Amino acid sequence: MKMSYLKEFIRVYALIEEKKIVYFISIFITCIAYPSLNIIFSFAYKLSINAIEFNHFSLFINTCILFLVAAIIQCLVEPFANYINARAVNDIVCRIKNKVFRHALSLPVSYFEKNRNADTVLRLTLNIDSFEPILRAGIRDVMQTLFLGIGALISMLILSYQLTLAALAFSVLAYLANFAFAKEIRKCSDIQYKCNAGLSQALAVTYETGQTAKAFNREDFLLAKFNESNKNAVSAAFRLAIRGMFKDGLTSLVTNVSRLVILICGLVMVINKQLDIGSVVGIISLQFGLTNMFVSLGGFLTNMQNNLAGANRVFALLDSQTEKSKYSKAIPGNITRNDVITYENVCYSYDNRVPVFDRLSFNIEENRMIAIIGPNGSGKSTLIKLLLGYYEPEGNIAYYQQAMGDYDLSEIRGKISYVSQRAVLLNGSILENIKYGDRDATMEQVIRAAKKANIHDYVMSLKEGYDSFVGEEGIYLSGGQKQRINIARALLKDAPIILFDEATSSIDNEDELDILQTLKKIKGQYTIIIITHRLQSIQDADWIIVLENGKIAGQGAYGHLQKKDCETMLI
Ligand SMILES: Nc1ncnc2c1ncn2[C@@H]1O[C@H](COP(=O)(O)OP(=O)(O)OP(=O)(O)O)[C@@H](O)[C@H]1O
Ligand SMILES: [Mg+2]
Repeated sequence: MKMSYLKEFIRVYALIEEKKIVYFISIFITCIAYPSLNIIFSFAYKLSINAIEFNHFSLFINTCILFLVAAIIQCLVEPFANYINARAVNDIVCRIKNKVFRHALSLPVSYFEKNRNADTVLRLTLNIDSFEPILRAGIRDVMQTLFLGIGALISMLILSYQLTLAALAFSVLAYLANFAFAKEIRKCSDIQYKCNAGLSQALAVTYETGQTAKAFNREDFLLAKFNESNKNAVSAAFRLAIRGMFKDGLTSLVTNVSRLVILICGLVMVINKQLDIGSVVGIISLQFGLTNMFVSLGGFLTNMQNNLAGANRVFALLDSQTEKSKYSKAIPGNITRNDVITYENVCYSYDNRVPVFDRLSFNIEENRMIAIIGPNGSGKSTLIKLLLGYYEPEGNIAYYQQAMGDYDLSEIRGKISYVSQRAVLLNGSILENIKYGDRDATMEQVIRAAKKANIHDYVMSLKEGYDSFVGEEGIYLSGGQKQRINIARALLKDAPIILFDEATSSIDNEDELDILQTLKKIKGQYTIIIITHRLQSIQDADWIIVLENGKIAGQGAYGHLQKKDCETMLI
């Protein structure tokens, strides 16, 4: 028995929470019902045979009563308990899924950067489905086997202790036959699990790199990788099946020999008038429950292995640290009254690597338009991500003259509209995508934002207008159209600070000029930060900051800035 699996098993059950009582009562009833039926039928066989053997009518009546009790259990109690159990399991699984999803939403940006998207999707879909079979069958199977085994043992002892002892001896033999294969089977099962995990990984790679694979004619490479994992999984399953075949064959041999031996011993006892035929039949029909307890219990966690491993991957996600609601408080010292954003001695490095910023300081006054330029990797996007509170820096960042730690992160993000370097679209309609910026916005406001972002005319040219679907990640749209929808979304949010991180990089020059016209129109009404590599984007900025290696290499108004400061940064 693997202790780590036992730990996962207990942890799954700890998630039941408030449904505990209904769940365990229904499990208890189903666990009692199944062994009871077996035991009742065994006694019913004994009584019915004895009724004929001894010509005893009252025994026949007792047989009928036992059958009636069995019918009530089988037709009413068991189905009802199963129904209650299924409802409880569905409720619990639904709550677990909610909990995991809520947790996933509160994970920090760094989690999604460190873990592959496809891996997280697997945890939230395939792996989370592992909880259902564990909760449905886990404890139930163990308890049913145990109750049936113990119930059969007691009943058999009542009928004949000599035959019971013989049956016990054969059960131990069946256990040993199983034990001989258990280690090998567990090993194969481990390999099979790893191969299946390899298959999922190969699928994930296909999902992530499908388009690139086509562009580089690398489908063969993906296929070869997948085939290899697939072949390994099949051969592990094959090896498992062979061992299973030998194990089952040997167990069945022991079981059948034991039945025959007990039947012969029983009949000898009947001939010697030490036992009635009914008891012999009863014992033989109970014997399965006893042997099964010896054979099945050891392999129970191995059978659950795949599901427990899936649950383990979900637990790993649940154990990941969530984002803080706010960062530690720090009071910046050098703030002017008009500052909307202040960076004071800000230091940051990703995972203790080379610092991106080392004591970076600057300030941005209200309703100014600031352009940040600099070579690739100079820290422009990081500066914006720090502003959005994605990571916690050292030093101080302040908004409206108040330290970052004075706000909840959600408050900070509420003040900012962000258009990222890569346009991100939901698989929905254009309307849904724009309204993501403000779910309560009216159609009029949506159209106004779309017009400002210069996408309205295009939307109107589509047959379904704003209800047109954009496809997975906006696949039905061009790069420029996607980016314009992102801009419309950001404008609809109507936050006082707008961040553009190379938002116009995928738009052609003419379109970019259009968007710059829009920016000109809103200039003075919002505090705007544009990160760009293009000269025309910075010409209207009130102030330009040149970043180089995480430091300010120069700053000033356009025209006053040293030509050499600009030219290496722009295209
Ligand atoms: N998530 C991350 N994890 C680790 N390092 C990162 C991460 N994002 C950026 N970096 C590193 O931080 C530095 C600054 O990156 P950043 O993306 O801020 O540059 P940038 O100025 O926006 O560049 P570009 O003009 O290419 O967009 C780079 O050296 C980069 O390798
Ligand atoms: Mg960048």
